[in-house]
Amino acid sequence: MRGILFGLGLSLSLGVFGLAQAQVMPHQSKHKSLGTVNCASSTCHGSIEERSGTPVLQNEYTTWLRQDPHTQAYRILLNEDSKRIAKNLGLKKPAHESKECLDCHSHNAPSTQRGDRFDLTDGVSCEGCHGPAGDWVKTHIEPKPSHAKNIQNGMYPTNEPYAVAKLCTSCHQGDATRPITHQIMGAGHPRLAIEVDTFLALEPPHYRIDQDWTERKGSFDSGKIWAMGQIAAASNLMNLIADPKRNRQGLMPEFMMFDCHSCHSPMSKKDWQPAMGASPGQARINDSSLAMVSALVKATQPQKSAQLKADIQALHVASTSPTANQDQLTKAANKINSTLTDVRNGLSAVKMDGPVLQKVLKEIVITASSGQYHDFAQAEQAFMSVSSVANSLGQRGDSVMVQNLNKRLNSLHKILANDEQYDRTAFQNGMAGLKQVLGE
Ligand code: HEC
Ligand code: HEC
Ligand code: HEC
Ligand code: HEC
Repeated sequence: MRGILFGLGLSLSLGVFGLAQAQVMPHQSKHKSLGTVNCASSTCHGSIEERSGTPVLQNEYTTWLRQDPHTQAYRILLNEDSKRIAKNLGLKKPAHESKECLDCHSHNAPSTQRGDRFDLTDGVSCEGCHGPAGDWVKTHIEPKPSHAKNIQNGMYPTNEPYAVAKLCTSCHQGDATRPITHQIMGAGHPRLAIEVDTFLALEPPHYRIDQDWTERKGSFDSGKIWAMGQIAAASNLMNLIADPKRNRQGLMPEFMMFDCHSCHSPMSKKDWQPAMGASPGQARINDSSLAMVSALVKATQPQKSAQLKADIQALHVASTSPTANQDQLTKAANKINSTLTDVRNGLSAVKMDGPVLQKVLKEIVITASSGQYHDFAQAEQAFMSVSSVANSLGQRGDSVMVQNLNKRLNSLHKILANDEQYDRTAFQNGMAGLKQVLGE
């Protein structure tokens, strides 16, 4: 969790609830990518200052160029770390020419779909998130542009919570369109973790959700973005577990499906607890997002809670019991995926308003302070989720409680700053402090 700061007073996120079907990722789209230079003119998105009186800020390119880490995504592939990773993996080409790296460190559109001014070195470019502009570039500057028409022409629906969650997690966790393996980690790649709503605030935003945004794109709901981010991450993991092309490395299961620290922690620690799995000495599936979805379900669709709990239990049994086999594990992962779809559909009727967010917050904090988020990955998700949900509450006006929470979150952040020195008891105690702030 490098660089995660908070008191995210500016946490923005977006709105319309959309039951996005399997979205085509921008790098796999059939439309043509034109290149960032086409967006960058000062009369389009390259203004130095924010413009007023126009629907969009028009300085998006300037914000991206000066402040957005994604401009560096390609350049990183030229540094010493990347050279070492590529060498350790025995890649045939250097990192900045290898698909294994470019798929996430640039907008790696198919070579046939690149316009004259397309430039891979732009890194995660405008079109890397908004979709190839070949066909929507014209419609988006019509006198009365229609968002729906732009989407039809290949614009990616970044305004829809589930779609944006799928987009960000595809690179920040990896998915079938952007595979990442433990071999890449072993070669020296940093561990990946994301909470979508928090990361949207950190990017930093180059847009403003105001009245005209809502008129053009629908309502805006940061609570839903948090929820969809957790569902998308859980679902990506279930897809990995169930995908015969990706779920093994030779004799071993693909280690990306497990909690990293269930293998990577000092032997001297000796802190296994019965809550952590069926038996000691086994790698545990990384259920950090499932733990957050469980809290979401308890707060919003409690009638599905028992089912989800049973599904997660079955997944752990299928991965650790002495008679475990891949078929059972695949079945358990597919079962969870269908429950996740059910939960996602159910959410369309739920408004993530103040009372619902309060429930989510309490659920996470109470579970955490009872010591049930034992793994670092769970603690990290719980922490980012609490700060995201608290911020959403803050935007709705509960500022005193949020200020008090934020003070305590600061010290929790220190506990999580270094995963190798993570102290489970300190985290649990910190969460117990939050419980008091919530009056529980
Ligand atoms: C699934 C997508 C994905 C793939 C595949 C991938 N990366 Fe990354 N990489 C990321 C993301 C996301 C980050 C930023 C992580 C963060 O800061 O949270 C990152 C970070 C890095 C960093 C650290 C950057 C820094 O600022 O210190 C290096 C170095 C790196 N990647 C190199 C590579 C190389 C080399 C390859 C190919 C072998 C590769 N990556 C493949 C997604 C990916
Ligand atoms: C990492 C992903 C990402 C990248 C890269 C990115 N954007 Fe965005 N952009 C978003 C998200 C998320 C939103 C907010 C949701 C929305 O309005 O669709 C957004 C919103 C916008 C908006 C809409 C504001 C509104 O009021 O409707 C514009 C315009 C925009 N971006 C332009 C750009 C330009 C130009 C670039 C390149 C210089 C760029 N974006 C790069 C993710 C990205
Ligand atoms: C095409 C792949 C890709 C997509 C899509 C993508 N990212 Fe990234 N992102 C990266 C890479 C690679 C880095 C690392 C760049 C660096 O270290 O400078 C990164 C870095 C970041 C960082 C800085 C992380 C840190 O630890 O400092 C944030 C925040 C971030 N992305 C948010 C988002 C959000 C929010 C979305 C979705 C709207 C998104 N990203 C979509 C590839 C991607
Ligand atoms: C099932 C056990 C297991 C899990 C789970 C696991 N690893 Fe590993 N990891 C290993 C083994 C085995 C090695 C190889 C150690 C060696 O070469 O000495 C390794 C090596 C590494 C290395 C290289 C360390 C070095 O000494 O160079 C890194 C970095 C790494 N893993 C990161 C991760 C990350 C990130 C995750 C979670 C996504 C993870 N690992 C999950 C077993 C695991």
